[in-house]
Amino acid sequence: MVQAKRPLALVTGAGRSIGRSIAQALHERGYAVAVTDFDEESAGMLAGELSPDGGSARAYRLDVSSASSIARVFESVEREMGDIDVLINNAGVYPSRPALEMSEEEWDQVMDTNLKGTFFCSQALARSLVKRGAGGSIVNIASTSAFSARTGVAHYGASKAGVVMLTKSLAQEFGPLGIRVNAVAPGLVEVREGLVSPAYRDQISTVIPSGRIGTPDDIVGVVAFLLTSDASYVNGECIVIDGGFLTGRFVQRAAARTA
Ligand SMILES: NC(=O)c1ccc[n+]([C@@H]2O[C@H](COP(=O)([O-])OP(=O)(O)OC[C@H]3O[C@@H](n4cnc5c(N)ncnc54)[C@H](O)[C@@H]3O)[C@@H](O)[C@H]2O)c1
Repeated sequence: MVQAKRPLALVTGAGRSIGRSIAQALHERGYAVAVTDFDEESAGMLAGELSPDGGSARAYRLDVSSASSIARVFESVEREMGDIDVLINNAGVYPSRPALEMSEEEWDQVMDTNLKGTFFCSQALARSLVKRGAGGSIVNIASTSAFSARTGVAHYGASKAGVVMLTKSLAQEFGPLGIRVNAVAPGLVEVREGLVSPAYRDQISTVIPSGRIGTPDDIVGVVAFLLTSDASYVNGECIVIDGGFLTGRFVQRAAARTA
């Protein structure tokens, strides 16, 4: 029996953490996956796990902060794996630096990776889809930092607010071409041990209505849903995935009763 061809997803920053989980989930759901990352080794390990013979997953070194790297990698992926159908703009950096101490280099690294990279990867996919007369779908990974400020990450919050508006702008420009552009905005996600201290985890969990911080599994299902035909009329939307953190000032019931 001839196997139906898998649709092809390109995931950026897929070597570890949320991007890795997204790449795994899409592969499980029947996509072939171009596993791209700045860190070629981690991308190679995941691609090897997903598809030892390279038939349905391959690794590529991609620096999303460089438009020329993006052009080169999209071209290689299409030559070696076929036409790309969907793109997950996941690669992002979130270093902490007080505004008074921030250098131009630090500002640019965050903006170039999180915002410029999301734009030029989206443009590369859209150009390819238009050339082929095909439709497609893009999901950008924003953050609750787009909507709620946190000290020490002025550049990060601004970049993610930019990603949310970019999602809307590109939905308008690409919508008539049959390309949907959406975003998800995760709250704090514990992507590896030691990212948050036990004390901070306990403290922040008390202000999240769902009572815990997020895991990569909380994110991947929503990303996968946005790619399906069930979401075919969702365009330019940003779905917040934060256990209710952004709903407002959350006071736990027991505490509220005694207040
Ligand atoms: N972890 C969280 O709490 C959280 C919350 C909200 C949003 N996010 C967003 O989710 C995304 C993934 O975050 P994470 O926590 O999994 O991050 P992470 O640091 O664990 O992994 C990021 C991956 O992106 C890659 N990367 C970094 N710079 C790159 C570049 N220039 N080009 C290509 N790849 C690059 C890294 O090599 C790494 O594999 C980011 O966009 C982040 O802003 C994370």
